[in-house]
Amino acid sequence: MLINQYNPQLRSELEAIQGNILKGHGRKYTAHVFLKGKKGQRNSTAFWISELVNKEESVVKSGYQQLKANHLFKTQKIDGGLFGGFYISFEGYIFLEGKDKAQRLFSGNTSFINGMKRAALNDPEPSKWDEVYQENCHFMLLLADDSKSTLVNQVEKIKRETSSFLQTLHIEYGNAIFNKNKAAIEHFGYADGISQPLFFEDEFEKYLNDHRIRNLKDLKFDPRAEGKLVLVKDKFVDEPHSKGSFFVYRKLEQNVKGFKKAEAELAEKLHLIGVDEERVGAMIVGRFEDGTPVEVSGHEGMMGAERFNDFDYTFNGESKCPFHAHIRKTNPRNTEKEAADRRMARRGIPFGEYKPDIPIDEMPIGGVGLLFMSFQASLEDQFEHIQKNWANNSDFPQGKAYDKPGLDLIIGQGKSLAKGAYATEWGNPTSMKSADFNHFVSMRGGEYFFAPSMMYLKTINI
Ligand code: HEM
Repeated sequence: MLINQYNPQLRSELEAIQGNILKGHGRKYTAHVFLKGKKGQRNSTAFWISELVNKEESVVKSGYQQLKANHLFKTQKIDGGLFGGFYISFEGYIFLEGKDKAQRLFSGNTSFINGMKRAALNDPEPSKWDEVYQENCHFMLLLADDSKSTLVNQVEKIKRETSSFLQTLHIEYGNAIFNKNKAAIEHFGYADGISQPLFFEDEFEKYLNDHRIRNLKDLKFDPRAEGKLVLVKDKFVDEPHSKGSFFVYRKLEQNVKGFKKAEAELAEKLHLIGVDEERVGAMIVGRFEDGTPVEVSGHEGMMGAERFNDFDYTFNGESKCPFHAHIRKTNPRNTEKEAADRRMARRGIPFGEYKPDIPIDEMPIGGVGLLFMSFQASLEDQFEHIQKNWANNSDFPQGKAYDKPGLDLIIGQGKSLAKGAYATEWGNPTSMKSADFNHFVSMRGGEYFFAPSMMYLKTINI
């Protein structure tokens, strides 16, 4: 059942969870403050955490506060201001609750307990990650605002306030980037954040309107989701509405120059020229830069592409959208029956400077990328399954493939050179050709966290 946030009966449920889980906070700038409790400083840390939610102008916002601020922005143009989210790693729970309790209450959540450093994702060894991510982190405070200077001031304030009991391991800044049609994009230039599970009635109504769908049976892809896709009981609090969510954070660096050069070389190899050239990138991502799904059209420019999501893969085969395309690997839609239950709420944001319309040779080879973030009810069944069993698995999806389906060429971790099959004529299975493509995304570090309930944060000091 979708949520109607205007229903007063649901207020307590939305007040009990953190914001940003069921709906993205939507701010342009983010700061990710990675913290570690100092030895013997458990109580000062707990007091500070409780102040993040108990002060009148709380930094960390509940789902209800976030949605109310959205409503006021839409109707009265009142700026939503600073948004905060607070996430705790397993090591962080040990610091706050002691090892026995942390282990008991998270028993069965093996991936969370082990942390990302020990995850079997084929990632580079932690010793090769950015040094700042090699240390075990306890907490990530997410701050988001539409003003970069407000954000920087907040970060400085927090550093000052906490320096006697918390070590600031690292601060990562994110900033949304946009194409000329004002659609949010990632650094390779593709519209991002289009396909999301929708939890709210008003979001689904807008979706039906955007897609001109008058009858539910005309839906090709159902974007609706229930809260349980991303929410689980917060076992540290004895109150039924108190729920939290497992949170993935991964810093993924993008070599934009390398990607664009390889794309151009592949186009030449496949003899795709003129308007067809753009289809090479689309066959790697699964969508053209403007968002048009390559399963739906052989050319970009579809009206409303930056929001279009109503398609599936019923077309028999891979001569429109290849099996290795990033969005087909990470959400095979109707072709894998459990795909809907594996969806995550993606909340990533790019990092690094974006310069539009520059020659390939001047494009960055590093220093830019995506701070991938997602909420899910299970790390094993959602994020890890997608990364490990789908993106990293060159035999997925099973079926009649021209060649092996191959790795996800955006995020697949494995051999650096990966083979993929491409149709030189859109939709023509006899025009398939195999070709190699390199990897241009590198994992620089990350961690698994839990986004606890508001009640946990409020009462942690008791
Ligand atoms: C630098 C790294 C990444 C880039 C450049 C990237 C880029 C994109 C783009 C352009 C889209 C299409 C827009 C949309 O539907 O929202 C997309 C969709 C998606 N990505 Fe990524 N992504 C990255 C990392 C990841 C990671 C690490 C995962 C998960 C393991 C992931 C999972 C997904 C999923 C589930 C979708 C939606 C697929 C669908 O429902 O059709 N992405 N990504």
